[in-house]
Amino acid sequence: MAHNYQRPEVQDIADFVGDSLELARKATQLEVKVIVLCAVHFMAENAAILNPSRTVLLAESSAGCPMADMIDADELREWKKKYPKAAVVCYVNTTAEVKAESDICCTSANAVKVVEDVPNDEILFIPDRNLGHFVATKTKKKIILYPGYCVTHARLTAKHVLAAKEAHPDAKVVVHPECTAEVIALADAVLSTSQMARYIKESPAKKFLIGTEEGIIHRLKKENPGKTFYVVSRAMVCPNMKKTTLEKLATTMETRRNVIVVPEDIRLRAKRALDRMLEIA
Ligand code: 13P
Ligand code: SF4
Repeated sequence: MAHNYQRPEVQDIADFVGDSLELARKATQLEVKVIVLCAVHFMAENAAILNPSRTVLLAESSAGCPMADMIDADELREWKKKYPKAAVVCYVNTTAEVKAESDICCTSANAVKVVEDVPNDEILFIPDRNLGHFVATKTKKKIILYPGYCVTHARLTAKHVLAAKEAHPDAKVVVHPECTAEVIALADAVLSTSQMARYIKESPAKKFLIGTEEGIIHRLKKENPGKTFYVVSRAMVCPNMKKTTLEKLATTMETRRNVIVVPEDIRLRAKRALDRMLEIA
């Protein structure tokens, strides 16, 4: 299974390519002994949490997500003490330990729905302050933001978007909710990576400015031969997503290295938060 940001040649040989919600959901439906994730660590961990009877491998062991490392379980426990009435809504870009301390998970595809669905009026949203801020603009609930962010999406500025719009005035601007509020304010649509793919397929527009990691352009071009895509900024490259190469994947599959193991007590608590999300979203 490969994430939408993977290298083109890795996406092309994957059995399934998707966003983090689709990868998590797919992991619950597979009837195979071994699942290999071409993605970053937390995505493979999600598959291992949801599939205890399968062997889950991460194609490249050093592929992590810097945002997921911005909060640990101790820090979250301290925040929970400060906001005892708040439900913890945890973006899936987190470690299993952090998920185990959370009430429910969300992805960029369902964050608003999840926040609306929990009974609490106060939400501690971790760790992405940009996704959390985007959710706050869509709900009446009180959203307490944790100051995490994606280093790749943070590189995209309003100046980049304005310059791209000037160069391509007839293009639709589609961005990921990990972008800053100033970038989101200039977008025509704010979507998860697979939601972008669906939106673009259905849109009558012919040109699109893409405000997310550049790996998705490969899939968009393949699925929409008559449409044109521009990355809003060339800086939109997630180095961790690019660590997986065909050679590394082949070695991982041949040797069955990089097995993802989650301690059972943590797995069960993290699974509860993921299951709650999958039930409602
Ligand atoms: P998606 O769930 O939209 O694919 O996003 C995952 C991610 O890591 C974005 O940077
Ligand atoms: Fe993490 Fe950002 Fe890379 Fe997504 S793009 S995996 S949030 S660092």
